[in-house]
Amino acid sequence: MVPMCGIVGYVGSGPASGRPLEVVVEGLRRLEYRGYDSAGVAVVTPDGLQMAKKAGKLVNLATQLGTHPLAPGTAAIGHTRWATHGGPTDDNAHPHVSGDLAVIHNGIVENFATLKAELVADGDGFASETDTEVVAHLLDRAYQATGDLTAAMREVVVRLDGTFTLLAVHAAQPRTVVGARHDSPLVVGLGDGENFLGSDVVAFIAHTNQAMELGQDEIVTITPTTVEVTDFAGRPAHARQYTVDWDAKAAEKGGFRSFMDKEIADEPQAVADTLLSRTDVSGALVLDEIRISESVLRAVNKIVVVACGTAAYAGHVAKYAIEHWCRIPVEVELAHEFRYRDPVVDERTLVVAISQSGETMDTLMAVRYAREQGSATLSIVNTHGSTIPRESDAVLYTHAGPEIAVASTKAFLAQITAAYLLGLYLAQLRGTLFPDEVVAKLAELRAMPDKVQTVLDRCDLVQEIARWMADTPTVLFLGRHVGYPVAMEGALKLKELAYIHAEGFAAGELKHGPIALIEPGQPVFVIVPSPRGRHSLHSKVVSNIQEIRARGARTLVIAEDDDEAVVPFADVVFRVPQCPTLLAPLLAVVPLQIFACELAHAKGLDVDQPRNLAKSVTVE
Ligand code: G6P
Repeated sequence: MVPMCGIVGYVGSGPASGRPLEVVVEGLRRLEYRGYDSAGVAVVTPDGLQMAKKAGKLVNLATQLGTHPLAPGTAAIGHTRWATHGGPTDDNAHPHVSGDLAVIHNGIVENFATLKAELVADGDGFASETDTEVVAHLLDRAYQATGDLTAAMREVVVRLDGTFTLLAVHAAQPRTVVGARHDSPLVVGLGDGENFLGSDVVAFIAHTNQAMELGQDEIVTITPTTVEVTDFAGRPAHARQYTVDWDAKAAEKGGFRSFMDKEIADEPQAVADTLLSRTDVSGALVLDEIRISESVLRAVNKIVVVACGTAAYAGHVAKYAIEHWCRIPVEVELAHEFRYRDPVVDERTLVVAISQSGETMDTLMAVRYAREQGSATLSIVNTHGSTIPRESDAVLYTHAGPEIAVASTKAFLAQITAAYLLGLYLAQLRGTLFPDEVVAKLAELRAMPDKVQTVLDRCDLVQEIARWMADTPTVLFLGRHVGYPVAMEGALKLKELAYIHAEGFAAGELKHGPIALIEPGQPVFVIVPSPRGRHSLHSKVVSNIQEIRARGARTLVIAEDDDEAVVPFADVVFRVPQCPTLLAPLLAVVPLQIFACELAHAKGLDVDQPRNLAKSVTVE
């Protein structure tokens, strides 16, 4: 599985100026979460193409542009890379050039070796090891034959296997940028006398909130005043225009030391906004977006949640609630495992895809597979205009606002909230909960943003402990019931952000192996369920704490405000407000996120852009 790059394109109507470069570099700054192995830009100037590209983070390119400025231009493209073919070097950085044409690419051209061999046999030389340079050569040849960049793009895309978003500019068409997409994201930004292209609206949100969705296998040509969308055969295609409902400020750090700190602080709002406007006057849930007929939803006999990373852990949490409320079996499966194992799904299965970006390729492919099997597909997604909702039968949007830090935080809480809304909706529809029970549970959910805020207000202790633990080589996390996926998410955050070995276990599994890992001083986070909950879960977890404490573990316990039973066995207690068992993950995960974030800061790491990771994993 390979994450991929961020791309941005701009064309304006004024005289040649510094604006195209400024817009593109600004867009790259916002897109850097998608990849940061190298960055590059190409500007169309009255004297031809000018280009700058540099290995490493965007700051390296910015420094180079400071010492070697580019000439004023009319259009520009820019790229921030997550390396696939060819290491993260200056030469392999995009754009790639052939003749008077420059191209940038997000994705993988799987048949590039064959295409390259043909071109080499025909006398072409190559300056990089990338698959993208092959596309540059093909486009250049097609341009020479057709004299038109859009026509050239149309000729080339059908020869490419794999996934791609491509943007190209040509010196002879100084007010045109052409883009194409196949299984990879691309959105259009509509300006006044200027237009934009980006992997994500974040690329141009500082300039316009008017955007246009592109479908699969479409080509778009932007000039300062026109946007033309066609399919790969050249037939006009309809692109839906929409207004982005957040502004550039939401995509800024707003005084926080990192996006992650800001995004954790946004969590109460993310939960509140996801709950907003989803009931009628009687208090019943109305999920207008769910365009799957009630008869199909009533007939559902199995739900399969497909997702990757943090989103999959949100699915694990939701399984407990949906099964309990709806009495429908729920399976949760990593999207990349799901579609390669011949899963048993049919027209009575509801496949729920959870994804912050709406672009994760494995999740998208799982949705496509499920549809082929005749299953209804519903996605829980944060990013409007993204691909997964377009390809699902229905979508339930989380309203977490833009999440820029690579590791997911606020989206996790919003995903759980949205999945719970889905569970309550199904319970209402199928009559497995009485209407007043649905109303009561919604009220409990609505009380959660304030409780999340309370946990945030108490973050000092967890931050202090995290700073003390900066040298810790390994941390374990234990949880039971809904606390189990929270333990796994806590471990994932620590791996991603602080590069510390961490594992999350089901507390009941402790005796079956993991307890052998406990030696004196081993830090273990334990997520303790409410003492008012069911199934004597609480006392079982308290026993687990005693067992590991007796073997020398350093116990870091997350427990409810009134829970005194844990005190004798805890080295540290992080308190969270009382809440119903099923909602507790929305609180318990917060100290774990803060812990990982603070520990990474203490180690001097870049919490927003951890090494080797990218936010949107847009190819397999
Ligand atoms: C990447 C990110 C994770 C995220 C996962 C799924 O691996 O680093 O933070 O959880 O993708 O992303 P999605 O956009 O589908 O939620």
